Parts: sequence; C-alpha cells; structure tokens
Amino acid sequence: MSDQSRQISPAVQLEARLSARPETRYPVVIGAGVLTRLPDLLPADRYGVVVISEQRVWPLWGEAVMEILRQGERRVDHYLFAPGEIHKTRETKATLEDRLVADAWGRDVVLVALGGGVVTDLVGYLAATYLRGVRYLSVPTTLLAMVDAALGGKTGVNTAAGKNLVGAFHQPEAVLADLDTLSTLPDVELDHGLAETVKHAALSDEALLDRLVTDATALRARDAEALSDTVARSMAVKLQLVAADEQDHGLRQALNFGHTVGHALERASEYRVGHGHAVAVGMCVESDAAVRAGLMAPTVRDRIVGVIEALGLPARLPADISHAALTAALVLDKKNRGGEVRYAFPGALGQVATFGGQYTTALPDDAVGAALLAHAAEGHAPEGHT
Ligand code: GLY
Repeated sequence: MSDQSRQISPAVQLEARLSARPETRYPVVIGAGVLTRLPDLLPADRYGVVVISEQRVWPLWGEAVMEILRQGERRVDHYLFAPGEIHKTRETKATLEDRLVADAWGRDVVLVALGGGVVTDLVGYLAATYLRGVRYLSVPTTLLAMVDAALGGKTGVNTAAGKNLVGAFHQPEAVLADLDTLSTLPDVELDHGLAETVKHAALSDEALLDRLVTDATALRARDAEALSDTVARSMAVKLQLVAADEQDHGLRQALNFGHTVGHALERASEYRVGHGHAVAVGMCVESDAAVRAGLMAPTVRDRIVGVIEALGLPARLPADISHAALTAALVLDKKNRGGEVRYAFPGALGQVATFGGQYTTALPDDAVGAALLAHAAEGHAPEGHT
C-alpha cells in the first residue's frame, strides 16, 4: 500500500440501503490503503474471523489482511480454495462448510471474502447457509467485484448446467474496496470491471460516460484518483438500483443491459470470451437492436459504442463465433421469461428504459439478427447472413 496514493485519494464512504428493509444498511468504503479499516467494520460481538480467499489472490494480499486482523482478534483463521469459475461450486462450498464445522466455528464467526467475484459470490452463499446464516464482509480485489459482484447481496455457485443457478440473497456487513489491490490486477480483468462501469454509467450517470472517456488512459494506468472516482460513482449506481429492488423483481433487472447477448456470447465461445468483453459487445449489439426496434435513439447507441471503443473494450463479435451458435445460446438464456428472450437497456443516456411498467422487453428477431450482423468481426459476416 503506497502512502502517496493514500494522500492523492482520500477514502470515500457510501451507504448501501434497501428500501424494503430500512433496518438493513451497511458501509461501502473505497480508497487506496483502506484495508487497515477492516477491524473497525467487523461486527463488535464477533467471536472470531475466518478469511476465505483463493490461491492466486492469497500470496498478493493474504498476509496483509492477516497482519491487520492478528492484532486484535481472539481467533482468526484462513481457508483457501482453487481459483476460477470452475471452482465456484457446491462441492467447494461443502468442503468449506465441513472445515468450519470441524474447526468448531459457531454463529458468532464473521467470514471475510477476499478476492474477485468468484470469492465474494461463494463466500456470501456460504455465509447465507452456514448454521442457517452468519455474517460476512466483502473485500473485493478486482474492479468487477468492486463495482458489481460484491455489492447487492446476490450470492451463489455455478452448476454443470450454468452460472449462478443456485444461491441466495444475503447482504454483507460491509464492503471494503482497497484500490491498491487493483495494482496487481491483470489488464484483462480490469476490462471486465470497466465494461460493468460503462453499463452503470449508461443506465444512470451520463456524466460518468464523459469521465470514462477523459480518464481512459489514467484508469488503464491504475491512477488512484481516476479509479476512486470511477469506482465510487459506478458503485453508487448499483447501490441505487439494488436499494429500490433487492430481490431483482423490477428495477434491478436493468443491470442485465448487455448481459442477454453477453451471456450467449460467453456460452457460445465456451467461456473463452471473458465476461466483461462479452458484456461490452453485448451492450453494442443490444443497443443496435433497440435502435432497429425503434426503442432507442441512434445517438444513444453511438455514444455507448464510442465509450466502449475509447476504453479499448471490444465492440464486435469474435470472428470464430457463428451466428447459429449465438442464436442457439440466446434462446437458452436463463433470463428467458415465458419463452421470450428479454432485454434491458437505457431509454436515454443515464436513464433506464421502461416498457409498460417493466424493465425488460422482447425485441423482434429480425432486429436482433441485423444487430448481430452489424457487429460481426471486421470483414466477416456470420454464417447464414452472407
Ligand atoms: N449483477 C447484476 C445484479 O447484481 O443484479
């Protein structure tokens, strides 16, 4: 943790609230070096803390966290699991549960999730069910986890049939986003978080779209001030949508912008295309389809595509993904409702679109087909459209 970055970027504190459960609120702290605040954010009546992380993150940040906790905790332990979505499973969760039981941790344990979205999702779900529910705190170490996965209490695991098919809503006690952890983040992982940030800006913070273009180079260089502003504003959008609709029955569904096509692209590529890249292309295709369906102004689409390109994120489909594979994957999307593929997108820049009181809509197949064609790889038309 550098003292210099701490001076440049003082910590920002937001508050997560839920309109349906006003008694549930928790702090979200963002800044360089804020890991040292971890003990202050833990519930006072805890017996001890178990930090849970994965084997790539632990060598980078594990010892710093343990050092901070060892100073004041009655009992502190750490458990690790193998990295990657492939290990975000019921089996990993069961192994961790058995270990908590074997180590005789009771309901007064507090779990600390240290890592990216895989860790915060899995540990949140573990906390939701261990002894019928214990408290946890998220310390996201990727941009994606900071601005998305660690916020809002969606927790869960993957099954062989798909991602996040089993889980629970379980809110953390606090979220602690130390921007210093982003210094060790690979560029491609930064991309994943930037894509979700574009989504948040397009849905609810038009000025953030400008900042993303102005700060594109600074963000890539992990400049603390640019990161602090972007992370805090992006988090604020997500917190606002979650506050209105914790359980994803209404406004929160707007966060699916880019994800219907994005998930299809991830699946059609057998997850070779990463989440953020898939969502970036997904936002371009879905915006174009919305324009073709008369539900979005072309200027809105062009602005979103322009920001995605300015950040160096992909706006086109990869050359080796066929139109047929994408279409088949779209139909399988788990967000299908009543046999329809449904889409969410901004109606205007910084404004969620509504459709007769709903936040998602079907789009005509020909609009989606033409948008996929328009976003085919440069010089390449997907098969079936040549
Ligand atoms: N990642 C979308 C949501 O939390 O609702």
